[in-house]
Amino acid sequence: MALSTPERPGAGEWVPERPSLPKLREAAPACRGCELWRDATQVVFSAGRAAAPLMLVGEQPGDREDLEGTPFVGPAGGLLADAVDRAGLAREDLYLTNAVKHFRHHIAPRGKRRIHDKPDTVHIEACRPWLLAEIQVVAPQLVVCLGATAGRAVLGRPVRIGAERGRVMDAELGRVLITTHPSSVLRLRGKDGFEDAFTALVADLTVAGAELRRPR
Ligand code: URA
Ligand code: SF4
Repeated sequence: MALSTPERPGAGEWVPERPSLPKLREAAPACRGCELWRDATQVVFSAGRAAAPLMLVGEQPGDREDLEGTPFVGPAGGLLADAVDRAGLAREDLYLTNAVKHFRHHIAPRGKRRIHDKPDTVHIEACRPWLLAEIQVVAPQLVVCLGATAGRAVLGRPVRIGAERGRVMDAELGRVLITTHPSSVLRLRGKDGFEDAFTALVADLTVAGAELRRPR
């Protein structure tokens, strides 16, 4: 399958050649690497310092993130912040970003509500040059993939959360840990599996914290 088409050339040509975090943030709004920019309010690039030791990668911005231009400011971000605190991670140690930088969605029939659509592999591939540049300039001690989209973007292959979560892996791009996406935990709120799912997310983030303290 040809992933790159004239309408979807991929982000590569918009990514600065010798990137720094400020240069990436400045360049990203112009990206036309795929069609997702068209229906979105703005690019949602990242939050956090270039010196952060821990990079958390989500899927794509949600409705609130699209409006505010900052990742993880909506409900899933709230749950993630709770899990981060419970795992004893310092928020200033985190660099937050997404596999895909524009909000993919459709409008609900007869309504105005914007409904989230999962990005396809073609969108993950198109946007990947931004993520690779971020990993290059931040050079975190550990990249935490929140969910399967992030896992695919970082590892460049399909991942199975259940089978691969919670352990530090040596990957081409550095050390990587896979866990669940906070939205999938959020969907269980008020249901039986919620506590277990939240505890499992905290446990994985605790492993990430221990990796930061590991002598190198
Ligand atoms: N979900 C994500 O994956 N990223 C965000 O920024 C917000 C919600
Ligand atoms: Fe560019 Fe990524 Fe936005 Fe597509 S989703 S236009 S590749 S920044």
